[in-house]
Amino acid sequence: MRDLIQTIERIRRDFPFFSAQHASSQWVYLDNAATTQKPQVVIDALVEFYSSYNANIHRGLYELSERATQAYEGARAKVAGFLNARSESEIIFTKGATESLNLLASSWGGTQLQPGDEILLSEMEHHANIVPWQMVAQATGARVVTIPMNEQGELDLEVAEKQLKAGSVKCMSIVHISNALGVRNDVEHLVRTAVANGVFTIVDGSQAVSHFPVDVQSLGCDAYVFSGHKLFAPTGIGILWARSEVLAAIPPYQGGGDMIRKVSWQGTTFAEPPSKFEAGTPHIAGAIGLGAAIDYVQSLGFETIGAIDHLLFEKASKTIEQIPGLRRVGSSDSQLGVVSFVADAIHASDLASFLSVDKIAVRTGHHCAQPLMDRLGIQGTVRASFSIYNHPDELDRLGKSLERAVRMLG
Ligand code: ALA
Repeated sequence: MRDLIQTIERIRRDFPFFSAQHASSQWVYLDNAATTQKPQVVIDALVEFYSSYNANIHRGLYELSERATQAYEGARAKVAGFLNARSESEIIFTKGATESLNLLASSWGGTQLQPGDEILLSEMEHHANIVPWQMVAQATGARVVTIPMNEQGELDLEVAEKQLKAGSVKCMSIVHISNALGVRNDVEHLVRTAVANGVFTIVDGSQAVSHFPVDVQSLGCDAYVFSGHKLFAPTGIGILWARSEVLAAIPPYQGGGDMIRKVSWQGTTFAEPPSKFEAGTPHIAGAIGLGAAIDYVQSLGFETIGAIDHLLFEKASKTIEQIPGLRRVGSSDSQLGVVSFVADAIHASDLASFLSVDKIAVRTGHHCAQPLMDRLGIQGTVRASFSIYNHPDELDRLGKSLERAVRMLG
């Protein structure tokens, strides 16, 4: 335990956000499911790119452009290794998980779905994994159906199995860990069942990749998406991994420079993946930053990360449970990274404002999961979400502040 706390203290020193020379260091930052802080190595990678080899990629024959191209493509190779993809060409850089899901809904859904087909989601999806499917359903005549969930935030796998076997589901897109509840879904089981029934499968790993290793080949899904900024990388960079057969078969999402083989007034032929899906100048610095973030995470190792996650989750859930008047939402035993709760007599946003005065950052509201809140019959929750640099003492600060809030506002 002492060793683990020393490890957290060492990790914390890697993040300038927590350095005493910045005012941000006064904050207890518990909004890591929204975005994580960035280690110095990631910031350094961005500064180095912009200050010493900023140039566009894939275009110039001069040395700077070649160096930028190598760094960008090197980051792609790091992502491929991180997810255990079969090849770098299966990795598409996007703006984030939202764009990755929109790409799939548009390019795969827009060409593969027909009237009467079903798109299977779960009741706990983020809006980013709902709205693009509703849009493509409207355009194609397909319909969105959901896997039900119990009050603890556990998906009903028996119902899911029946849905997947019934023959109408063409695509299943499921969140790996719920951003609002922190529940880890049994995507291995769901994907196996879906694949056995010929269903196209997508996993949204936005909240997962910073907590445990993901191996897309052993998972067996067709596509996996995540956002870099929740993995200590900059905002505006995300990943779509898809099997090469999928990327070869579906049309491009956007047209423009760098995604073509030949353009003429008679028509255009497209480049091979990944270029086919990366029209225009991409977020070069973001990709390089994501590569540096992956190196950083791998230098810590998921064993250490998992031990920290476990320590923080146990402490946070006990802290909340011990405060009379607070109720945890989603008590599935496969939660991690997030503790979501409501107060009997206090509005969630009043609680979050109270915490903010005490310089404690949490997210409040529906967490971009309104159908989930409707299912649970609540307006929203207060969500404390942790990362590798959160000290257990910060959870004591959270507990004390919440006790005062309940006394004063309840
Ligand atoms: N999806 C992010 C969250 O859960 C923004 O807060």
